[in-house]
Amino acid sequence: MTRDELLILGADLRARSGDTPPAVYDLRIDELSLADSNSPQLMEHVRHLALMRSYQGRFVLLPDVANGSVVDQMRRHYDASAMLRLDRHRSALETVLIEPMAERVGAEVTIQTCADYIDDMLGGIQSAAPGDFLLWLDGIDDREHLYRNFLIQSSTDLLAEASASALGVIGEYGPPQSALFRILIDEFGYGVHDKKHSVLYRKTLRGFGLSEQYNGYWPLFDTPALALHNVIHSLFQSPRNFFRQIGFLLYAETSYQRSTGDHYRHLRKYHPAVDATYFGEHAHIDIHHSDMVVNEVVKPLVARFGEDVGQEIILGAELTRAAFGVADRHLLAVSQAFDAAVQAGEASYGLAAVNTTGRCVTPDNAAGSAKLQVGGIGQISAVAFACFPAGSIGREV
Ligand SMILES: [Fe+2]
Ligand SMILES: [Fe+2]
Repeated sequence: MTRDELLILGADLRARSGDTPPAVYDLRIDELSLADSNSPQLMEHVRHLALMRSYQGRFVLLPDVANGSVVDQMRRHYDASAMLRLDRHRSALETVLIEPMAERVGAEVTIQTCADYIDDMLGGIQSAAPGDFLLWLDGIDDREHLYRNFLIQSSTDLLAEASASALGVIGEYGPPQSALFRILIDEFGYGVHDKKHSVLYRKTLRGFGLSEQYNGYWPLFDTPALALHNVIHSLFQSPRNFFRQIGFLLYAETSYQRSTGDHYRHLRKYHPAVDATYFGEHAHIDIHHSDMVVNEVVKPLVARFGEDVGQEIILGAELTRAAFGVADRHLLAVSQAFDAAVQAGEASYGLAAVNTTGRCVTPDNAAGSAKLQVGGIGQISAVAFACFPAGSIGREV
């Protein structure tokens, strides 16, 4: 998809959104910032935004409060031919944004049986040290702002947690389908709204004074957070990727049982007033989910269809590991860069009001005297932001 096509698509999506759309019907992709820039980093970011908008067009979304006729808003937002103008770019965007990562992972995967892979992975994750981000935060006084940013970046997917994977449960494919459905209904709180995982996540957001609106922070999402969202959605939007979807669940449920325990302890220690049920619940239930994926989905499918299915499952798991790895490393790098800028007197911690019309800036095109909001962390001068890691996003305040 060329830059010109992206500019035309952006203008179309902007016109469809109107000036003050509810966050759930906001389709803007920052093409105005791209129009006067040749930044490759910004180009990549705008492409990811377009792909995110395309995937999310499949979700039922309602604004928190009525502002005009929601029937009219939905007719307009979900208009089939307007959606098609966005979706026809999807495959080209996936080719540029997702496939290179999948190919890289495929080339690096060691050939082994799926059973051996699972043994290695379970052992590796269960004995792993806490993540680098939380370890580093232990030594930082201003950790609240950095943790708030972690919550915002993770909200790209978690505010509709398990909606992507719900797309893999429809159809008709035997006993593994029912095991996946049982996991899915756990994710949806067994029908008890207050226990739905996305609702538990909102309670943690509230504890940090954050908005709970789905996509409300899209202007602050950085590129690796969007990339992670899009990798997950690229898997689940097509049955072609079914076995890779299983690989996603295998890796995500297994690694989550470990990482959420660390987050739970972090919140209890440093933010005891914040509701940490989201993390406490996952540290417990994902032990079962991981076990169900292994024993009720992966093993029966490999037994029924053979090892080439196992190789697809491994690929999906490794692609998921790679996407999480990029996002995790970026989170730490941007946090450390920001803290260093604060120490140097070039930045200050705090979350300014989100400016949905502020220019979107990447480190490779940062210049001038503008103040930029970086994620949920704080504000920084454009000059200092120019040294930030690729994938960082600054938003003019
Ligand atoms: Fe969950
Ligand atoms: Fe789970």
